Amino acid sequence: MEPWMLYLLSLFIITGQNVVHSEIMIAIAEPGRSDIRTAPLSNVSLATYIDVDDAVTSIEFDNVDGRFYLGTGINIFSTGTNGKEKTEHKLEVTSMSIDSQYGLLFYTSNNNIGVLSLYEHFHKIIINDSDIKVGEIAVDADNKHIYWINKADNTIERNIYNGSSREMVVETKAKGLVLDTKEDRLYYGMDGMLIGVNLNGKDEKIYYNNSDGQTISSLHLYDGKIYMILTNGTNSILMSYDIKANVSMVLVQETAQIFSDVVVYNTVLQDVVDNECTVNYGDCNYFCLPLPNGKTCITPDGKVDPIDIEIVTLKPDPTITRKPEIPPTQKPEFRNSINGCVRQTSEKLSVIFISVSLYVFASIL
Ligand SMILES: *[C@@H]1O[C@H](CO)[C@@H](O)[C@H](O)[C@H]1NC(C)=O
Ligand SMILES: *[C@@H]1O[C@H](CO)[C@@H](O)[C@H](O)[C@H]1NC(C)=O
Ligand SMILES: *[C@@H]1O[C@H](CO)[C@@H](O)[C@H](O)[C@H]1NC(C)=O
Ligand SMILES: *[C@@H]1O[C@H](CO)[C@@H](O)[C@H](O)[C@H]1NC(C)=O
Ligand SMILES: *[C@@H]1O[C@H](CO)[C@@H](O)[C@H](O)[C@H]1NC(C)=O
Ligand SMILES: *[C@@H]1O[C@H](CO)[C@@H](O)[C@H](O)[C@H]1NC(C)=O
Repeated sequence: MEPWMLYLLSLFIITGQNVVHSEIMIAIAEPGRSDIRTAPLSNVSLATYIDVDDAVTSIEFDNVDGRFYLGTGINIFSTGTNGKEKTEHKLEVTSMSIDSQYGLLFYTSNNNIGVLSLYEHFHKIIINDSDIKVGEIAVDADNKHIYWINKADNTIERNIYNGSSREMVVETKAKGLVLDTKEDRLYYGMDGMLIGVNLNGKDEKIYYNNSDGQTISSLHLYDGKIYMILTNGTNSILMSYDIKANVSMVLVQETAQIFSDVVVYNTVLQDVVDNECTVNYGDCNYFCLPLPNGKTCITPDGKVDPIDIEIVTLKPDPTITRKPEIPPTQKPEFRNSINGCVRQTSEKLSVIFISVSLYVFASIL
């Protein structure tokens, strides 16, 4: 066999194996229990219950660090996918949405919307308005907008990451909110209906309507499918809805059990692509927020803006695994595998390494 043929063959085999490593998982928050349910999406009956010691109402996944962010209604904490390495964040949270590339978690609670830096755990309230009651939130990482349900006015509003340019998008009594940034559509639940509009609130379409008296309480989008939690107060179902095919399917159903939130994630973690905020922390003293045009440095709540004083030296909290790009002299230790999740680069590197070695080996022969 010619060396180049062996090279191509090995590349083919190894790239094929790569797919096997990645597993799409589903995690469900079930208040009333002290664990979360996870299962492979390919067979949701193979459920594993991960003990987290708290009744969880909302759930998010950081696909850069491989950590769950779990809300109990009165606070949030994060854990690895095994439920261990717990970190408490003393924030009252009802809904969360993560921009994993910038390491930001936006959260809502009553009259407030805040942002938590996943690097340093600094946080800042960006909207505090006694006339609003905030429900679910969804991040538009492409346009640096957040969309959120205002239950006081029955509207969906949006603003840019720093809380400015606030505007009403659509008037509706929504529950559950997701954004499809590829198609520029915003989806929300209204009673048993899944409704979609464009990002300006126009071109409304009904995608799904439940006829069994169950209402939508939470939505999540992954790879062209919307995962919906529906409940009638006693029983709950988790459904998937394929947007292009307009086909829905029941994945999990339980009697006398409430599901409150769902997240779908890949066990192969994403890498952070350098951006204006990760390189040297965006030259910020505390934390950096990207904006539609550029970035801004944020002084967290409870901190003083150090205008005239020496620049604060950031000392990353050792319990936090997420690290930004910092100068070469202080490069952080590179972690390849986190709690059963695998990092994308380590897979790519191993593919390149193995195929190059095979090529060299074949050339010698
Ligand atoms: C899913 O797992 C269950 C329990 O192990 C098994 O009985 C069933 O055949 C599996 N279904 C598929 C489609 O693999
Ligand atoms: C929101 O504003 C009110 C008064 O305007 C203040 O009392 C309250 O502490 C603020 N809340 C937060 C979380 O900043
Ligand atoms: C948010 O960013 C916009 C755009 O850069 C700026 O005009 C505005 O003043 C900022 N608002 C706050 C509260 O910092
Ligand atoms: C999806 O299919 C249903 C019928 O099952 C139809 O009523 C609805 O209009 C379709 N929605 C879209 C957006 O195509
Ligand atoms: C949705 O379903 C409910 C209950 O079956 C029904 O009352 C309602 O009219 C439907 N809405 C639409 C727009 O079809
Ligand atoms: C929910 O639905 C189930 C059957 O579908 C029914 O037995 C139960 O009474 C319903 N609960 C409420 C609160 O309507």
